[in-house]
Amino acid sequence: MAMTTPRDLFIHDLSDAMSAEQQILKMLPELAKESQIPEIRQAYQQHEQETQQHVQRLQQVFQLLGKQPEKTTCFAIQGIAEEHRALHKEQPAPPVLEMANLGGADQTEHLEMAMYTSLVQMAKDLGQQQTAQLLQQNLDQEKAMAKRIEGFSKSLGKQMASSASGAHAAR
Ligand SMILES: [Fe+2]
Ligand SMILES: [Fe+2]
Repeated sequence: MAMTTPRDLFIHDLSDAMSAEQQILKMLPELAKESQIPEIRQAYQQHEQETQQHVQRLQQVFQLLGKQPEKTTCFAIQGIAEEHRALHKEQPAPPVLEMANLGGADQTEHLEMAMYTSLVQMAKDLGQQQTAQLLQQNLDQEKAMAKRIEGFSKSLGKQMASSASGAHAAR
């Protein structure tokens, strides 16, 4: 179908967001399973529940617009998932895998933040206030998750650096 109006683009981007969220729903349990740090594992599990809410809010948005999501694939998220699979082939040590997974999760949240920032703007431009509010709620949860992940990365990075220098000193 040809996209001719800003509303067409809005529907397309919402469909892409739906595809992204559905792929993320599959990735988060994998990340939780791979994590050896209870706090981090819990954060992935909590965000999986939030991600279910993101899908529900998107469904509400489609209902408000009287549309069905288009069959589309969010290739950006697919790429991040492929990076994750590729990393496994490098046989990372557990703390390295933990760190790499945090990096991938942070990339995912930032991609979602960019998606929802633009969707909120489009909804406002189209005069869809209720839709804009629902999308804003998703955006706020993505932002909070990105902050949480960055906090974990920072403390894990420090820990890894000090244990690496400890190992170096012991040699
Ligand atoms: Fe999300
Ligand atoms: Fe997210």
